[in-house]
Amino acid sequence: MAITDTLDTYSASALEPFEATLPLLPLKNVVILPKSIIPIIVGRDMSIRAVEHALKMDRLLFVTSQKDQDVESPTLNDVFTFGTKAIILQDPVRMPNGALKILVESIGRAKVEQIYESNNFLHALYVDVPSANADDSIKLHALWRQLRKTYLAYTKLDERAPANLIDNIQTPTEIDHVTDTIAVHSSLTFQERQSILETADLHERMLQLCTLIEKEVDILETEQRIRGRIQHQVEKGQREYYLQEQMKAIHKELGKEDQSAEIEELRAKAKKLKLPEDAFKQVEKELRRLEQMPPLSSEASVSRHYVDWILSLPWHTMTKDTISIKQAQHILDTHHAGLSKVKERIIEFLAAKKFSKTLDRSPVLCLAGPPGVGKTSLVKSISESMGREFVRISLGGVRDEAEIRGHRRTYIGALPGKIIQAMRKARSKNPVILLDEIDKMSRDAHGDPAAALLEVLDPEQNKTFTDHFLDVDYDLSKVMFIATANVIENIPYPLFDRLEIINISGYTESEKLAIARQFLIPRNLQEHSLNDAQFTISDELLKHIIDVYTKEAGVRQLERIITKLMRKTIQELLQDKKKKSVEITSELLLEWLGHSHFKKTSLNTKGHHIGVATGLAWTEIGGDVLEIETSILTGKGNVTLTGQLGDVMQESAHAAISYIRSRAKELDIKGSFHTNRDTHIHIPEGATPKDGPSAGITMCVALISALTKNPTRNDVTMTGEITLQGRVLAIGGLKEKLLAAKQYNFSTVIIPQENEDDLKDVRKEIDLGSLNIVLASTMEDVLAVAFKKNPLQKEVRNIKKVTRKKTTSKAPQ
Ligand SMILES: Nc1ncnc2c1ncn2[C@@H]1O[C@H](COP(=O)(O)OP(=O)(O)OP(=O)(O)O)[C@@H](O)[C@H]1O
Ligand SMILES: [Mg+2]
Repeated sequence: MAITDTLDTYSASALEPFEATLPLLPLKNVVILPKSIIPIIVGRDMSIRAVEHALKMDRLLFVTSQKDQDVESPTLNDVFTFGTKAIILQDPVRMPNGALKILVESIGRAKVEQIYESNNFLHALYVDVPSANADDSIKLHALWRQLRKTYLAYTKLDERAPANLIDNIQTPTEIDHVTDTIAVHSSLTFQERQSILETADLHERMLQLCTLIEKEVDILETEQRIRGRIQHQVEKGQREYYLQEQMKAIHKELGKEDQSAEIEELRAKAKKLKLPEDAFKQVEKELRRLEQMPPLSSEASVSRHYVDWILSLPWHTMTKDTISIKQAQHILDTHHAGLSKVKERIIEFLAAKKFSKTLDRSPVLCLAGPPGVGKTSLVKSISESMGREFVRISLGGVRDEAEIRGHRRTYIGALPGKIIQAMRKARSKNPVILLDEIDKMSRDAHGDPAAALLEVLDPEQNKTFTDHFLDVDYDLSKVMFIATANVIENIPYPLFDRLEIINISGYTESEKLAIARQFLIPRNLQEHSLNDAQFTISDELLKHIIDVYTKEAGVRQLERIITKLMRKTIQELLQDKKKKSVEITSELLLEWLGHSHFKKTSLNTKGHHIGVATGLAWTEIGGDVLEIETSILTGKGNVTLTGQLGDVMQESAHAAISYIRSRAKELDIKGSFHTNRDTHIHIPEGATPKDGPSAGITMCVALISALTKNPTRNDVTMTGEITLQGRVLAIGGLKEKLLAAKQYNFSTVIIPQENEDDLKDVRKEIDLGSLNIVLASTMEDVLAVAFKKNPLQKEVRNIKKVTRKKTTSKAPQ
């Protein structure tokens, strides 16, 4: 509006005819368009003088731009022909450097024709250039509308451009002036402005301006789009950055910062371990879940627990086998005395393994025998001689499949089964795993642990063993499993079928003595920091201990007593400083150990031996003797069995009675004894349950003795199953039974003929000394040895008597 106002104020004088000459003010870098007001700093002396001159006159100047900015005293060729007449609006302000600051308003186009210098400043000879085509025409209005629209669009993009400039403009003169003003407010280049200045034709000028502004609008719009995009990107980046920072802060607050580091660590470890593909996938899945969970939640600890387990298992690590047969033999010998047959089998097994590297399908060894005979310690020695890791799994009391195979990990506190736990302990893929006490497993409603073990031991299946907790396959095919058992009969059959049983029977007294001398005493002396001069014990006393204070097949109790004696010795040495050593005597033994807890089965060796027979029994702790007593009382034919006899033993008793009835005549027994006599069979130590068929012949001998009043031999003992026909069948546990017979100083033992081969084996293992062994295939054979007088011989004797009578009667003839 200000421009329009000034326009009105000066229009009267502006249209007046001027002198054709005006002081020239050449400008550098600036084009002044008509109707614009601008401040100008006038620095050149020549120009200052021109301004001063104009001020003295009518304040008018001719203003034009220099073509070359560096020229100081321009000539006509150095300036643009088109310029404007301008009026100085205010009194100039002198600047400290002597320059003048003036405000001028351009009032119309003019063209310089001549330049000359006088009074030390330049003068321009000029002509006015009025606007052409500035009539009230349709084209003008059309052009105006276009220009207006374009400018309006422009003002929206450039807020410095005043939008009210174009309000209420109607007349051609107004349009003419506003067109120039628009040019002033649009950001045109120096050249473009000069071009607008030089276009006096209004139509032409408006068109040109339209094009220029449109171009500018285009540029501005593009610029805006670009700016928008940049801003969007910057904003997006900023937003993400901000959110990440916020997340970090939240994690830190929740204590998750450590967790992220921990997760990364676990991930790196999983990569390094080269886990099998499905295990790796499971770990990755759990880790991703873990990232989403609050670190202290129970789910997080379940996940972490799982990943820890997977990462702690040996997936590829293997130890190198060092099977040297010589070394293996040496290691077995340094840890165990005797057991030559067992060691031989083990060496055989190791040799086969060494010979064929692919012998992963070899049967699983099972060392079977009574407690304390060195099964567990032998397996340890096997692993040592192979240079493999050793882990023991105790199966005693396991009755749930999950104990072998683990619980599903969805349960809180779930763990892998014993097998996988053992693998973690082993830290290698090929350890020796001892399945200890495989016969002590039981089963309940939660599945059969033996069935799970089957998979573990089966070379076809154990390559891909699945533990419920791990939920991924684990390869057990490189593991060497060895089992131990006390009672083979208690091993579930399918398992038994896969085992190669090596029997270790109990030790004889002399073997025990040797073990004590060579192993137990030296080892325990060392453990108690005693030397062999400080603690001495004679072989006789050791034998006495074995005999009286222990009742076992192995040497565990013996070892316990030896350590007890050593502790007492230490106490003695500490109490009496002058004492340097302790020699164990029988008095000391009685003082320190008291009387034996184990009473030897007391045998009725004195008195008459009618209705009594001694049998041999096999128990888990070795062989023992059983004294069977019978009595025949007047009654109604009842049979009473006492002494906690099991079913099988009771049936044996009935079989014996039936046999006797069938042979009553030969035995000279009244055939009606089973109807008018009560039979009572008792086996002492009544509180101990007894079972098995092997007391059959003994019960039969005792009954015959009672019925015939014929005493049995008290130096004879026996074992064997009886049939109704009187055949004697094979029994088990021969070695232990013979050991017991020897221990109780029997002179003769009757055993079934069917056990002849076993006897040969036993003879190889133990020295039976003077023990007389009778092989019996029928009851007749038994009766011939068991009695002082063979009850069957009665008949024979009678017949002989008769024959002799006959002969004597014949003789006189
Ligand atoms: N022949 C032997 N030589 C040396 N020491 C032996 C011998 N037999 C057993 N021992 C020792 O007897 C102890 C008991 O042995 P171990 O524990 O191996 O018996 P086990 O047969 O596994 O018994 P259980 O059936 O009760 O588990 C160990 O200290 C062992 O060293
Ligand atoms: Mg053991």
